[in-house]
Amino acid sequence: MAEELERIMSEDAGRLLGGGSWREIVLALDEGIHIVDQQARTILYNHSAARMDGLRAEEVLDRSIFEVFPSLTFENSTLMQTLRSNREVGQSQQTFVNMKGEQITTVNKTVPVIFSDGSRGAMEISRDITLIQKLSENISSLRNRFSSGGSAEESVSVSRAKSQVKSNNTSYTFADLIGENKEFKQVMNDAVRAAGSDSSVLIIGETGTGKELFAQGIHNASSRANQPFIAQNCAALPRELLESLLFGAEKGSFTGAATRPGLFEQANGGTILLDEINSLDYDLQAKLLRVLQEGRVRRVGGQQEKKVDVRVLATMNQQPEEAFASGSLRQDLFYRLSVICLSIPPLRRRRDDIPLLLDHFIDLYNQRFNRRLEGVTEELKEAMFKYDWPGNVRELQHMIECGFNLVSRERKIGMDSLPLHQREKLSNLARVSSNLAEPLLQGDIPELDSYLAAVEKQLILRALSQSDNNITSAGKLLGISRQSLQYKLKKYQLE
Ligand SMILES: Nc1ncnc2c1ncn2[C@@H]1O[C@H](COP(=O)(O)OP(=O)(O)OP(=O)(O)O)[C@@H](O)[C@H]1O
Ligand SMILES: [Mg+2]
Repeated sequence: MAEELERIMSEDAGRLLGGGSWREIVLALDEGIHIVDQQARTILYNHSAARMDGLRAEEVLDRSIFEVFPSLTFENSTLMQTLRSNREVGQSQQTFVNMKGEQITTVNKTVPVIFSDGSRGAMEISRDITLIQKLSENISSLRNRFSSGGSAEESVSVSRAKSQVKSNNTSYTFADLIGENKEFKQVMNDAVRAAGSDSSVLIIGETGTGKELFAQGIHNASSRANQPFIAQNCAALPRELLESLLFGAEKGSFTGAATRPGLFEQANGGTILLDEINSLDYDLQAKLLRVLQEGRVRRVGGQQEKKVDVRVLATMNQQPEEAFASGSLRQDLFYRLSVICLSIPPLRRRRDDIPLLLDHFIDLYNQRFNRRLEGVTEELKEAMFKYDWPGNVRELQHMIECGFNLVSRERKIGMDSLPLHQREKLSNLARVSSNLAEPLLQGDIPELDSYLAAVEKQLILRALSQSDNNITSAGKLLGISRQSLQYKLKKYQLE
């Protein structure tokens, strides 16, 4: 059977890759691969699987898994379950002590396979997440110690990591939110009102619009301000890890993790911020919904439910309709979370706030860098008004910070003090005239040809700026061919 599999694999490899063999590729994979035949006899076992199990491949190959792994039974072996049911056994997390005495955590998936002679087998694919598991447990216990006070020394060392970390682990209040724009102020008002209630809040906004600031602001203005604030990004960890991190785990449970409370228990009395909620595993969203509805959590592998009093804030950088359409957010969870919904406008919709934000960040970095810069040049400011700011306020902040690093003897940050990629975009924009709309409404009527040429030039410069000076993409934006754009660039001497 092993030779048969090898023959099929190397034949396929010859056809598909023109060399090498599937076997070599599978053997070198980072994932552990373990294939058994219908009698649960191992016919392929790669290096990663051997490393995780602490065995040598020779000790496993051609032998029954029950002989090699005495703790396995017909019932608990996932390979056996797949062989019997001919069904995939989904992602499961296992913590075990391997033959070398090392504690290993893996995420496994077992799928049925059919060999060319029609006989069936099963393949287990394992990912080693021992390191991630350890890191997450460290973070969790650090949070535990921090939120329960810890020693003075510990608190100091954690708070030093961020400039002004408050005792509840946050750094911002509403006072740190800069903006006078009408739409922005409306969101601010809603946020202030939200702080006075205990309902869930869903904060929607593009990257860098200040979602985290709003969340911390709400917590710090609420009656829970002296209680813990715990933020967890839902996109960062595999499902099983996140599940036990959020809801806790019971020793001896299926996951084998040590007994520890989850973030919901640690945040008891306070607030939990679930960042990028639309990246949370779909099934886990259902579990989260139950916790929100019942106000109780049950640790993974645990029997008892525990009452928790936690206010939930969640963020998302996608519009809800898009998130439903792509299947990344459950509608039922959305309705539960969005009792209050704050939609933060992107910076390009609140350009009137640019001067205020500029002043704010210039002051901030003057203090940090111990300098006395006066601001940015008129040319740069004008370009900033025309720029689209895909990275929003964070991008503006970084631009100023970079300016402080690059500016030499000048008193103002200019184009030359920007990172190269932004310098090109913004200097293109600086050349765009901003009073083209005027002749449409008032003043002397310009000559049609020269006016249309000026409009054309302006649109070309904007399209180039938006597409990082890539002529093909700028052409696409403008709906003209690359050749015709090149012709126009020559005509207007924009090359
Ligand atoms: N209105 C604002 N006033 C002052 N600073 C702001 C404002 N909005 C954002 N910032 C700054 O931008 C940075 C990014 O904000 P934040 O981390 O809240 O963004 P986010 O919306 O959570 O982005 P992401 O989706 O990438 O996590 C903050 O560190 C803050 O310094
Ligand atoms: Mg954020």
